Parts: sequence; structure tokens; C-alpha cells
Amino acid sequence: MSGVLGDAARPVCAYLYDPAVLAARLEAVRGALPGGAGVFYAVKANSHPALLAAAADVADGLEVASGGELAKALAAGARRVVFGGPAKTDTELAAAVAAGAHVNVESAWELARLDRLADRPVDICLRVNRAVSPLAGSHRMTGVPTAFGIDETQLAGVVAAARRSRRLRLRGLHLHAVSNNLDAAAHADYAADCVAYTDAVLPGAEVVNIGGGLGVDYTGGGVFDLGVFGSLVPADPRLVVEIGRYAAAPAGRYAAEVLDLKCTHGRWFALLRGGTHHFRLPAAWGYDHPFTVHPVEEWPYDLPRPEVRGVPVTAAGELCTPRDVLCRDQPVDRLRVGDVLVFAQAGAYGFEVSHHDFLSHPKPQVLLTPR
Ligand SMILES: Cc1ncc(COP(=O)(O)O)c(C=O)c1O
Repeated sequence: MSGVLGDAARPVCAYLYDPAVLAARLEAVRGALPGGAGVFYAVKANSHPALLAAAADVADGLEVASGGELAKALAAGARRVVFGGPAKTDTELAAAVAAGAHVNVESAWELARLDRLADRPVDICLRVNRAVSPLAGSHRMTGVPTAFGIDETQLAGVVAAARRSRRLRLRGLHLHAVSNNLDAAAHADYAADCVAYTDAVLPGAEVVNIGGGLGVDYTGGGVFDLGVFGSLVPADPRLVVEIGRYAAAPAGRYAAEVLDLKCTHGRWFALLRGGTHHFRLPAAWGYDHPFTVHPVEEWPYDLPRPEVRGVPVTAAGELCTPRDVLCRDQPVDRLRVGDVLVFAQAGAYGFEVSHHDFLSHPKPQVLLTPR
């Protein structure tokens, strides 16, 4: 196999991760933010150890959302850990306390349990589900009924309970709002709004955590403009961000070999060694993830090689469901059985959010670009 797929086994089914890309994206976010602001990597986007090691090197810390992610973050050598997530068990809270993590508390009951089990001082932020959220994007978590955060109407009571605690040190608010926002000016406005809101409801706060949500355009040429974000974001060193998609998406590609080509009811399908059980994001979000064709000259059969030229092709996976589709009707100049489709921008919420065990196919290989 040539080029980036050099070490890939046949038939090719692999994630290609480049830790340096992840590190560079986090550095770029840091460069855009005012000095003193905290840049954390959201482990949920991609928890491969090589990527976590790169993130732990350059970020102020890692943001985790489970006991499993906490263990991975500690193994990666995270300088600091922020523990979030809406449904934490006592075991997870205790592990967070033992690790010296900062905890983003999501409810009054969680605060009571954390206070009861904390055997040492614990820094906390309260995550708020605000009455209104000015920020657009997918997966809204605030300003609407969701399982996330403390309803704004109950915030004063939880603040008072936190202040009564002997162990818990209330540092600020956590205000993660949306996913995949491409409007950098709106995101900067949101940061300013979070600062004003925090000062209004928690005077003296030391942390204004706006979470993640910086977007990636999977289907077009749009970019989240860090320059615009940096020029408009308030110069407030209390800001903290938890960056997932923006850092991890471009650090990963998914490559899958074409096992078969067929036409049914007038539509051409490329059947892949792989699919949505490895890369569920396009099916989950309902979009077509573009691919490039990596031509493979080697042809091991003494049979004519199936190929199509100049037709739109639908990239379908190996699962027994018509929903196992990564991209519909993308035109190709030429595609042969044995060529490899490469899906860029697949490093965030790719393998992590997929149902790997459906049909018990082998998991994808992971190929790392050396740092
Ligand atoms: C609390 C929290 N922080 C950070 C993130 C990372 O967000 P993103 O990948 O959009 O940067 C998420 C994603 O869901 C989240 O829930």
C-alpha cells in the first residue's frame, strides 16, 4: 500500500491519526485567547492514547466525562483534569476527588453527594442551564429542556449550598452551550455574554468555563475563524474552554477499502470494509461525509477488476442495514474494487460514538503519523 496507507493491512480498514495536528489546533486556540485563559482538550472527542498524550503536552489539562476517561487522562499525564458529565456515580466522584480534579457540578443532588464524600478541598464550578441561550449550533444543551446543568431558577439555592460546604470551593460557572458552531463572532459574543452572566449571578467568580462548540465544516469550505474569535473574545483570563471537535476532527482520517461495486435501482454503491459501526457521525447527524479516492494498483485476482467511471457513488458499509451509509451520490472519476475511500476530518466523535460490536466485524486498525 502506498503513501499514508503504507502500513495498512488488506482489506484496508483504518483510522489514521496525526497527534501533531491535534496539538497544533490546541496551540492555535491558545494563541487566539487572552493570556491566562485555560485551554482544555475534551477527551470525549477522541480518547486514543497517542492523541491524549499530545493534548496533555500542550493543553492546560484534559476535560473528562466519565471514570473511564478520567483514568485515560491520568495515564496520559494530564497536568490538570476537569470532570464534567450529567450523571456521575459516587465512585466516579470519589475518583475525581482523589485525582485532585476540578468538578463541574450538574445538579443539587450531585453537589450534596460530592460534599458528603469529599475528604479534601475540591474546586468546583456549577453548570447552568440558562433561561435563554444566545448561541446557535447543533446539540443545544442550555436555554432548552435538557439533562444538562442546573436550571437557572434553582441556581441561587445551589450556590448557597456550595458556599455552606466546608470542602467544596466554588470557583465559577460552567456554561457549555452547543456543538459545531462555525460562527466565530457569535462564539466570541457568547463568551462575552458568559462573562457578564457569571459576574451577575456569582460576583467574585474566578472561572468562566464556556465549554467547547467550535465547529468544523464537514461538507463545505467553511471554517471557524480563530482570528475573528480572538479579536472579539473578551480579554478575560478567567475564561476556560474545553475543545473537542475543533482540535480532533482534522487529526483523523478514516480509510475503508471498496469490496464490491453494484448498481441497484439506478444508484451505484461502493461496499466498504467498514462503515457506520466505525464512523457513525454522518449517519447520526444525517449528512454526507465527503471522501477522496485513494487508487490502489495492486490487484490480486485473476479476474477482471470491477470499476465505474464518471458516476455518482454511494459509500455504504458492511452492516445489514440500509442506514449504514457514509456518503450518498458523490461523483467519482474512476473507482475500482480494491481502491480505498478516505474520509478526512474524521478524528472527532468518529470511532468514539460508533456501535463497534454490531455484526462483530473486526475493529479498524489505527495508524499513527509519527510525531
Ligand atoms: C461539557 C462539554 N464540554 C466540552 C465539549 C466539547 O465540545 P466540542 O467537541 O464541541 O468542542 C462537550 C461536548 O459535548 C461537552 O459536553
